[in-house]
Amino acid sequence: MTDIRIAIDGPASSGKSTVAKIIAQDMGLIYLDTGAMYRAVTYLALNNSLEQEEDIIELVQENPISFGIDSDGKQLVYLGEVDVSGAIRQKDVTSNVSRISAMPKIREYLVDAQRFIASHGGIVMDGRDIGTVVLPDAELKIFLVASVDERAERRHKQNQEMNIESNLEILKVEIAERDHKDSTRKTSPLVQAEDAIYLDTTGMSIDEVVNFIEDKANELI
Ligand code: C5P
Repeated sequence: MTDIRIAIDGPASSGKSTVAKIIAQDMGLIYLDTGAMYRAVTYLALNNSLEQEEDIIELVQENPISFGIDSDGKQLVYLGEVDVSGAIRQKDVTSNVSRISAMPKIREYLVDAQRFIASHGGIVMDGRDIGTVVLPDAELKIFLVASVDERAERRHKQNQEMNIESNLEILKVEIAERDHKDSTRKTSPLVQAEDAIYLDTTGMSIDEVVNFIEDKANELI
């Protein structure tokens, strides 16, 4: 058991959550998927036709985001008592999440929650601004990238496994659009932290990526 904090940032579908989950399990660390938090907030905003960030935050406070695990070890996401794990991966949420997550007060609210969770011990956190904003003093920072084509293919496969409607060509366009929005927004854009290790995973297997990051982490323990 270690209290190392590992920040994994990178563009959409670069494999962050897949590797972060495995590393957390292997090393006995908490795993936090911050993208799922922005997705849950977006789901709530869309479902209640809310546009103002104050109103959205108020509703999130009434329906707090929490995480669980099902019998197969799969991560579950809740809003209050409601399981929204499937709903937050649907198309309407994916196409609106970059807009909602660009709202400064929403970011402030979620960043506070993320730091609070990290204050409980060792953690692997994945997102867009973990190494730059949420945990700027994380012991290990990884910036994970892969080509748009490879990322779209990975997400397509994942969608098919989860029975989510999916079209590879549309995915390529959506991923590139989301990257652009996330990288060019004013508040906490997706950028590589100066002290992050850049890792291009194009052509690498999940095991290779996990081993690379775990080796780096073990050097620091
Ligand atoms: O990681 P995932 O693709 O599920 O993230 C969904 C969206 O949430 C991203 O496209 C981005 O707009 C937002 N996000 C963010 N900051 C984070 C994590 C995710 O803005 N730390």
